[in-house]
Amino acid sequence: MKKIVIAIDGYSSCGKSTMAKDLAQEVGYIYVDTGAMYRAVTLFAMRHGLFDAEGNINVEKLESLLPEVNISFKLNPKTGKPETCLNNEVVEKEIRSLEVSQHVSPIAALPFVRAKLVEQQQAMGNEKGIVMDGRDIGTVVFPNAELKIFVTASAEIRAQRRFKELEAKGMPADFDAILKNVEERDYIDTHRETSPLKQADDALVLDNSYLTIAEQKQWLMEKFHERTAE
Ligand code: DC
Repeated sequence: MKKIVIAIDGYSSCGKSTMAKDLAQEVGYIYVDTGAMYRAVTLFAMRHGLFDAEGNINVEKLESLLPEVNISFKLNPKTGKPETCLNNEVVEKEIRSLEVSQHVSPIAALPFVRAKLVEQQQAMGNEKGIVMDGRDIGTVVFPNAELKIFVTASAEIRAQRRFKELEAKGMPADFDAILKNVEERDYIDTHRETSPLKQADDALVLDNSYLTIAEQKQWLMEKFHERTAE
């Protein structure tokens, strides 16, 4: 069976990562969460005091420090799942906090940040056999991906999912703050100048607002088999 590149794009918190991770495991592909990479850069900027009280970034300082940022993924031997590392430190939990979520969009809008991460992402997909999720995977990172999926769901349903996710991890959560964050991020992600979130012309749309995990998986596996058999 031929190996392909699977590009999964869509709005925040619509279950892209869980879905992409699961698909990768099922078909034996490598999974890359590109949102985690933007989150890791955000955590780095927060730790270096590069945000002021209004959330403005010290762009010059970040640009000069960026060569020191090394993002990688390491397999957790206990869970068998990849974890995001910032300069070799596992930061998987830290990058999912609401504080990072609230600061990540302006970081992801910086062209020099995107240039560095996109280059790394393209190198990871050289050998194919990869499932990558993000916002610009089918449009910028892998415009020739054999299978492109654009995932969407209503903002309320996405906020509910993120709320439950944080609650389950024992992290403090406030539904209204999360919904506001989801809506704000949608706006910034779709309106930014560099690589805004948009559906690739040849992407298949998956609205999972009312789909069960099992229904979604079946849909994905059908598409995967179609594309690998071609
Ligand atoms: O998928 P996520 O919520 O973890 O993504 C975090 C942020 O990073 C989100 O605001 C969009 C941005 N992002 C991006 O601009 N490009 C990507 N390929 C992935 C994420």
